[in-house]
Order: sequence, then structure tokens, then C-alpha cells
Amino acid sequence: MRAVISTTLCATALLASCDDDARRDILDTPAQPDAGPQRPPDPAAAAATAMFDEGRTIFRHDTFGDEAFWGGQLRLHEAIAGEANGGVGPGVSPTAALGLGLKVDAEALPADVVAALEAGQVNLDDPATTLLLLRADAVLGVKGFFAADDGPIESIGITCAFCHSTVDDSFAPGIGARLDGWPNRDLDVGAIILAAPDLTPYTTLLGVDEATVRTVLSAWGPGKFDAELILDGKGFRPDGKTAATLLPPAFGLAGVNLHTYTGWGSVPYWNAFVANLLMMGSGTFYDPRLDDATKFPIAAANQFGHRRSTPDLITSKLPPLHFYQLGLPPPPAPAGSFDAAAAERGGALFTGKARCAECHVPPLYTDPGWNLHTPAEIGIDSFQADRSPDERYRTTPLRGAWSHAKGGYYHDGRFPDLAAVVAHYNAHFRLGLTDAEQADLVEFVKSL
Ligand code: HEC
Ligand code: HEC
Repeated sequence: MRAVISTTLCATALLASCDDDARRDILDTPAQPDAGPQRPPDPAAAAATAMFDEGRTIFRHDTFGDEAFWGGQLRLHEAIAGEANGGVGPGVSPTAALGLGLKVDAEALPADVVAALEAGQVNLDDPATTLLLLRADAVLGVKGFFAADDGPIESIGITCAFCHSTVDDSFAPGIGARLDGWPNRDLDVGAIILAAPDLTPYTTLLGVDEATVRTVLSAWGPGKFDAELILDGKGFRPDGKTAATLLPPAFGLAGVNLHTYTGWGSVPYWNAFVANLLMMGSGTFYDPRLDDATKFPIAAANQFGHRRSTPDLITSKLPPLHFYQLGLPPPPAPAGSFDAAAAERGGALFTGKARCAECHVPPLYTDPGWNLHTPAEIGIDSFQADRSPDERYRTTPLRGAWSHAKGGYYHDGRFPDLAAVVAHYNAHFRLGLTDAEQADLVEFVKSL
């Protein structure tokens, strides 16, 4: 019976909502004796599970060879190790790493380390402990390369999990079980890059001095990154604030056409973009839109739209990586985290008087089709939209929005909470919603 229930549930969510047991049930459970003729195992389901698992491994652990950049060029591993461990400077202790928003996968910790941690016998102020965590592959999205099992650290790379996953804090703050697809809104990517002993890769690329690179990257702050900086070199908006955007979730993307805040392309388009141009992995990337020297001066000068680095460690990973992300469901709102009666009233407003469903069409909560809108349509400035090919904003799919309240809402977090988003729409669309109606709408969005 359990297998039957989980088969139904799991099939509706591309296997992603299944725990490993449920998935095994689907694949391994022989037909019930009274369930009619024996059904042969479904090879397509087995292939789907294998592809999902492969995608997860890539998402969590694959650097696509980007250690040539993060270790080889920025020499970040030397700053982490510190002088006492063959690197430079004071090193980065686990306490400092957690302070930068890095997260630790409790399940990857060796049993003796867990026991020592519980007994308070681990020195969290010693960079050598950080190296121990890296050796256990326990720091989310950061992969250390060591000379030998007990040799010194030789390089470091990052994976998709660096920005698009966090932990549930079940062991301690910043230490727990992985939550793939959740944006890490604590992660200070700018500060991490600035810890590198050598910033010349950025000064050379952007054509500015080190002080300018420091000013730009230190303005990002936790939970933000600027994916367009290396295309157009814009560090700040006209209003003086950072040009960086919030790290978005990488769950709940199935059925959504265009991705990123400004709709650069499909999931596999963006995955190839990120792995090649942001993580600086080794691979192939084609996008002649980046030849526009007015809009993307740095990308055009560096031929970013025509990248062919060998060996290609990216292209073969795109199918499973795509599949895995489509299979990551948005996390359901925890029971008790919203007022159910208010949410029900809010749902009626969402599709009715408040007109939200004109763009956020349930159950996708983005527009089925070409899901982009002009800045004027949603009543905000065009700065970030203008940095993208279509000069529009993509209707954000709203499922799981409750889970990334930290950092605020909209691409740059300009609205501190959902109430501020709703108040903005109420004014912009002249909806005439009462305070109570606005509160109900907020409860509805929190329930998605
Ligand atoms: C250094 C941080 C960082 C890393 C590493 C990173 N991303 Fe992202 N990702 C971002 C940011 C920032 C955006 C938003 C970009 C924008 O809108 O301009 C984004 C957007 C996305 C989106 C679009 C989400 C949506 O709502 O449409 C997907 C999908 C995605 N990333 C997948 C990946 C994958 C897969 C990898 C690994 C190959 C990866 N990212 C690595 C920061 C990162
Ligand atoms: C004209 C189309 C359109 C309508 C109508 C619309 N939205 Fe949006 N919505 C968007 C776009 C585009 C964005 C992305 C804005 C950005 O990131 O800067 C967005 C973003 C949001 C966000 C932020 C999500 C996040 O993770 O940052 C919320 C919440 C939201 N909308 C809720 C609503 C509600 C509630 C209504 C009805 C009152 C509504 N929207 C009406 C297009 C629309």
C-alpha cells in the first residue's frame, strides 16, 4: 500500500518529493499478488531516478574545473589555510567561515568529528579545523583539492550548492542537513572573494584598480551576487546602491519558461552560462547576444558568447543538472506558519480583485508562456532589466516564497517583506485593497 501511495505522490512531482525509500519502492516493489498481472519494471522510471541522482551529485559536488580560477588564479585556498597550514595570512577558522555564511553538511561529518563537536573538543577558531571539514567534503558548495589524504590543500573550487543551498540548522546554527535549491541568504560572496590573496583576475577583467574591486564587492553584502558585473562592469546603480541581486531559489522551476530575474533564458541556458562565465569552469558557451558592445562591453571584448575552453567539463553535465533542478519541489509552508482562514480569503483576492493571477497564474504562479514584463508594468525602475537582453523582469514563481524572506523581495530585495510588496501593488495598480485585504493576500502568498 505504501508503495502505491508513494508512487502516485512521487509521479506527480517528477520523483523529487520522494525520499530515497519511496523512490526505491517505486522501482523495486514487485506488483502486489492481488494487483493483476505482474508488471515488468519500468526502464524509463529507473533511468529517471539515475538521472536525478546524477544531477544531484553534479549540483552538490561538481566544480566543472573551476578550481583553476578560484584556487589557481585567486589562490583562495591559501587564504583559507593560513600561514600555519602552508597558506597566507591568519587563515579562515570555522567560526569565521560560518560568519561569512558558509554552511556545514552535518551528514558528511565523520563520526569522530561529530562526537568531538558534541563534546566541545573541536577548536572552531583554528583554520586547521576548516581544512578538516573541507577534506570531509562537508562545506556546502566548496570543494578542497588536497595533495594526498593527509597532504596540504592545493586548490579550491565552488559548486552550484555554494549559492543555491543551505542547511536546516538541525545540529547547530549553520550546521545541519542539506536543503538543495534554497538560496543561501547568509552567504557573503563578495567578502569571500575579497579574502583572496590575488584579485588581479577581477582588476584585469574589469579594467579597474584593486580599490575599486574592493568597493564594488564589499557593497554586495549577505545573500547577494552580481551575475552581470563581468558582462557590463556596472558595480552600482544610479541611486548609488549595489548592482547585485539576491541569490534566488533553484527549486520550483518546472514548467517555468524563462529564468533569472530578467529572463535570460531557460534553465539549461543559464546553467551553461553560470558554469562557464561565473564559476569559471572549463566548457563551451554560445550566446551572440553578448557581442553587443554597448550593453555588454566586457563580455563583448572578451568574446564571452563564444567560449570554448578545453576540456569541456560542462556540456555533458547539462542534461542531469537540468533534470535535477526541475525535480526540486518548492518546500511546502510549515503548518502553523500562516493563518489558514486568512489565506483562503487572500486566495480569492489573488485571482480576483487584486489581479495578481493575471501574471502569477496558479499553480505555476508565473505566466505560462513568455513570462516577462516591462519595468513600467510592475512599477519599478529599469536598471536591472536594462542589463539583460530583453530589458524586462520575469514574473517570479511564488511557490516557496515564504522560505526566502531573509533579504527581502523583488530582485534586489527592495521590499523588506510581503506586506511591502502587496502595498506596492495596491498603490501601483490602484487596487483599492483595505488593510485587512492586504493582510489576507500576504497570508495567501505565505501559504504557497
Ligand atoms: C556565486 C553564486 C552562484 C553560483 C555558484 C550559482 N548561482 Fe545560480 N544564480 C545566482 C544568481 C545571483 C542568480 C540570479 C541571476 C540574475 O537574475 O541575474 C542565479 C540564478 C539561477 C537560476 C535561475 C533561477 C530562477 O528563478 O529562474 C538557476 C536555475 C540557477 N541559478 C542555477 C544554478 C546552477 C545549476 C549553478 C551551478 C552550475 C549555479 N546556479 C551556480 C548565483 C549563483
Ligand atoms: C504585470 C504582471 C504582474 C502582476 C499583475 C503581479 N506581479 Fe508580482 N511580480 C511580477 C514580476 C515581473 C516580478 C519580479 C519583480 C522583481 O524581481 O523585481 C514579481 C514579483 C513578485 C513578488 C516577489 C517574489 C520574490 O521572490 O522576490 C511577489 C511576492 C509578488 N510578485 C506578488 C504579487 C502579488 C501578491 C500580486 C497581486 C497584488 C502580484 N504579484 C501582481 C509580475 C506581476
